[in-house]
Amino acid sequence: MDLQLTGKTALVTGASTPGIGRAIAAELAREGVTVAIAARRGELLRKVAQEIKAAGYAEPVVLEADLYDPATPERLAAAACDRLGRVDILVNAAGGSRPIPFDAPVETWEEGMMVNFFRLRELTHALLPAMIQSKWGRIINITGSSEPRNVNVANAAKAAVHAWAKGLSRDMGKYGITINSIQPGRIKSEQMTRQHPTEESRREFSQREIPAGRFGEPGELADLAVFLASPRAGYITGTVIPVDGGMKRFAF
Ligand SMILES: NC(=O)c1ccc[n+]([C@@H]2O[C@H](COP(=O)([O-])OP(=O)(O)OC[C@H]3O[C@@H](n4cnc5c(N)ncnc54)[C@H](OP(=O)(O)O)[C@@H]3O)[C@@H](O)[C@H]2O)c1
Repeated sequence: MDLQLTGKTALVTGASTPGIGRAIAAELAREGVTVAIAARRGELLRKVAQEIKAAGYAEPVVLEADLYDPATPERLAAAACDRLGRVDILVNAAGGSRPIPFDAPVETWEEGMMVNFFRLRELTHALLPAMIQSKWGRIINITGSSEPRNVNVANAAKAAVHAWAKGLSRDMGKYGITINSIQPGRIKSEQMTRQHPTEESRREFSQREIPAGRFGEPGELADLAVFLASPRAGYITGTVIPVDGGMKRFAF
């Protein structure tokens, strides 16, 4: 299938680690997209850019950015537009799980909501006016499960992303802009290694919770993200799609 992505441009956040953001950046580059990659750790980003270049694709633009900083969304959007010419595709992959005790202080809630929802929304809104003008755009949010196991700020933040993205997709449809969210189940990454540090703990969890019987590879999620980013997915918007080896327990 020709995904018709050659010549498009993309900004991918959370691309510094060997996880979801990096895999999506690499797959977009493989499809002929010029990519900018963002996160806090510049050294890691530069390594990712070199790996993608060494594989024979256009070298990604590296943009160091800390999403805790309130100025980052505007600054990052401007830098990406400046370096890429325009941003056709935004992949919001920065974020992470935040399990907390029920009596955690308000600052803990604010921190988790900040990186997983507020800055994601602000960055998206900073890029939308130019997408509206060019009458084309793709927003892909990497969110998470809607089935909380305990109190976790990320669950609340990702649910906020789903609700906001649905409303936004209804407003943006007329401009040729789609907004979709992908829910990873257990995809190998830096934070997954922290949460499930041993092969044995991963095997035990997989046998108990994942019908596919294993953790997913980042590339298995990236395939869907790249399709959603493509012109061929123009009739898919406002959705929340799991990539979880069947881990989600409920039909709806
Ligand atoms: N892997 C899974 O199975 C799974 C499950 C549920 C949800 N998710 C979601 O999927 C997304 C990607 O997860 P992952 O597992 O691939 O994560 P990961 O390997 O831990 O990577 C997280 C990325 O986010 C960036 N990031 C974190 N805080 C940031 C900040 N303040 N400013 C800028 N960048 C920041 C990190 O870069 P720096 O540290 O260099 O800034 C890193 O590149 C996350 O939103 C996560 O919540 C993943």
